[in-house]
Amino acid sequence: MSSRAWFPTYIYHEPLLRAGLERFNSELADECHRIRDYDAAGRRWSAKNYPGGYTSYASLNRLHKISSTFARLERRITLHVRRFARQLDLDLRSREVAMSDFWLNIMPEHAAHSLHLHPLSFVSGTYYVVTPRGCPGLKFEDPRLSRFMAAPPRTATARPANRTHITYPARAGHVILFESWLRHEVAPNRTAADRLSVSFNYHWS
Ligand code: NI
Repeated sequence: MSSRAWFPTYIYHEPLLRAGLERFNSELADECHRIRDYDAAGRRWSAKNYPGGYTSYASLNRLHKISSTFARLERRITLHVRRFARQLDLDLRSREVAMSDFWLNIMPEHAAHSLHLHPLSFVSGTYYVVTPRGCPGLKFEDPRLSRFMAAPPRTATARPANRTHITYPARAGHVILFESWLRHEVAPNRTAADRLSVSFNYHWS
């Protein structure tokens, strides 16, 4: 074939650790619930802006600075971010990557998270803590979608890399990383149980 793919959009998906995930996630879930119970301002903000759910995004969004459990998680996630940056061929010689924001999200039944991106950072991602069977994954949109203009739609059997959307399953213990400009959303949770995740942004200097 004489045509080749260029300008790829990378999405990174790996288990956080090789072993000990269950114990770590159960500690982390307890810590998340303690933070929600403590965070009255966040619960008020979520009631207005995140219907049915709770997020610490607008109130406690540097959790790695106030919780030793989150600080441990930050160190582990940073190892993955460095690997991802190497895969992207980013020139970070004598530069540092650092987590800037770290917040938690609890999505009970019916809660959803509409299409968005993460400004003021270069890599963003999510780590899954509790993922009830059948809960929604993370759906990404082709960043070129607004430029397709008069292009015909893709066939139902299009190869995955040629589709306009891809949904990654939410799997407890897994990290998903993406470049912060990539738009994504979470469909409504149709399970009766809470879906619990933490999200983060990285910058470099
Ligand atoms: Ni997001």
